Amino acid sequence: MEYYAIRGGIPLSGEIDIAGAKNAALPILASAIMTNDTVIVENVPDVSDIRAILSAISSIGGHVEAVDRHTYKINGSPIKDEPVTDELVQKIRGSYYLIGALLGKYHHAEVVLPKGCAIGLRPIDQHVKGFRALGADIRIAHGMIIAEAKELTGSHIYLDVVSVGATINIMMAAALAKGNTTIENAAKEPHVVDLANFLNSMGARIRGAGTDVIRIRGVQSLHSTEYSIIPDQIEAGTYMFAAAATRGDVTIRNVIPKHLESLTSKLKEVGCQVEESDDAVRVAATRRLSNTHVKTLPYPGFPTDMQPQITVLLGLANGTSIVTESIFESRFKYVDELTRMGAQIKVEGNTAIIDGVDHFTGTRIIAPDLRAGAALVIAALAAEGRSDIHDIRYIERGYEDFPEKLRALGADIRRVDDDDAPGRAVIRRVG
Ligand code: EPZ
Repeated sequence: MEYYAIRGGIPLSGEIDIAGAKNAALPILASAIMTNDTVIVENVPDVSDIRAILSAISSIGGHVEAVDRHTYKINGSPIKDEPVTDELVQKIRGSYYLIGALLGKYHHAEVVLPKGCAIGLRPIDQHVKGFRALGADIRIAHGMIIAEAKELTGSHIYLDVVSVGATINIMMAAALAKGNTTIENAAKEPHVVDLANFLNSMGARIRGAGTDVIRIRGVQSLHSTEYSIIPDQIEAGTYMFAAAATRGDVTIRNVIPKHLESLTSKLKEVGCQVEESDDAVRVAATRRLSNTHVKTLPYPGFPTDMQPQITVLLGLANGTSIVTESIFESRFKYVDELTRMGAQIKVEGNTAIIDGVDHFTGTRIIAPDLRAGAALVIAALAAEGRSDIHDIRYIERGYEDFPEKLRALGADIRRVDDDDAPGRAVIRRVG
């Protein structure tokens, strides 16, 4: 199994480019099969979650062609009415977007129930409520979710909780329903807007994405398009916080600064210098940062996917900080690992009380999920001495070339494969 060996204490410096947004690419690739025409999608990140959704599309007969590392041609016309059982797909949360896409196009979908990162209970009742409102019959049998409809008809849907996944799934199915659909209390994340723009470029009629009321006028069919995915807000944020935690100076390019506002404002508040230009943001920290309080919220609030990263940063800040997680109920599992690096953090329910320490010290740590794994890499980059981070497969679900990009910023990080020679670790230099 591979792990990252990191020697910490080096301030990151330089410039990096951000990849396309994983959480936009997942629904965009899934909905590319909603037309019989060929769709070209650019700026697709090369990460394992994306490879999984592409493999699922191929497994049901869809044509997937890699034009280059980040560009795909998708053609859904050969898709047969087959269940999506692909083993890889169950591991990714975004696989449930195939339900909305297949239900919208074929009025029938059978998709293995998704798991995704273990960050708490992740019900899909709001997705089900939306599909039922559009006229679908939904049942769960043998680990599969089965959605069927004679006809999909537009409806008025009020979401009980702001859900990114439910908003996206309902939007996809409603795009090809008869009549008008309104989604109230909709999620406003940039990837919700990106999917709406993508579907509109295929002929859908979706208005209001990015506000909490989305109106969809169903159309009979969708057509070909060429579309480029927005930059990944969370990948960008992760490098911004890595720059701050290591007291470095990093320019993060190919971003939409507006999507990063909740992050830039917190970084400024704790004493970082942040400079924004049209499509880049520079983060520099020259001294120990100060404490603050943070609560995760749906967009435009502070994202839950950046909660572990800010906890790491505040773990090194001066004074006591409080981080409240309001989206997922068990997203502090990584705190035990951080404590072993010397952090002083007490978790009470959904709140972490952080007494900042002067420095962390390196040790062997395990990544419990994608974002927590990335946050532990930041902790290791800032720590004194060596850290080995295991279970990096979680991290590589969502970060393209993570060690390579960090090395380009001066970090000492290597991918080590201890399977190559039993009993002996082989160190491969990367980047
Ligand atoms: C998406 O998950 C992202 N995943 C997550 O990113 C992200 O953390 C999350 O949105 C919040 O921003 C993908 O886009 C693939 P939700 P999703 O539905 O859609 C509750 C990452 O690291 N809820 O917005 O699953 C739910 O329990 C991942 O990239 C219901 O109660 O999240 C949670 O408390 C991790 N019923 C809240 O809503 C439902 O039917 C928000 O969940 C659906 C959700």
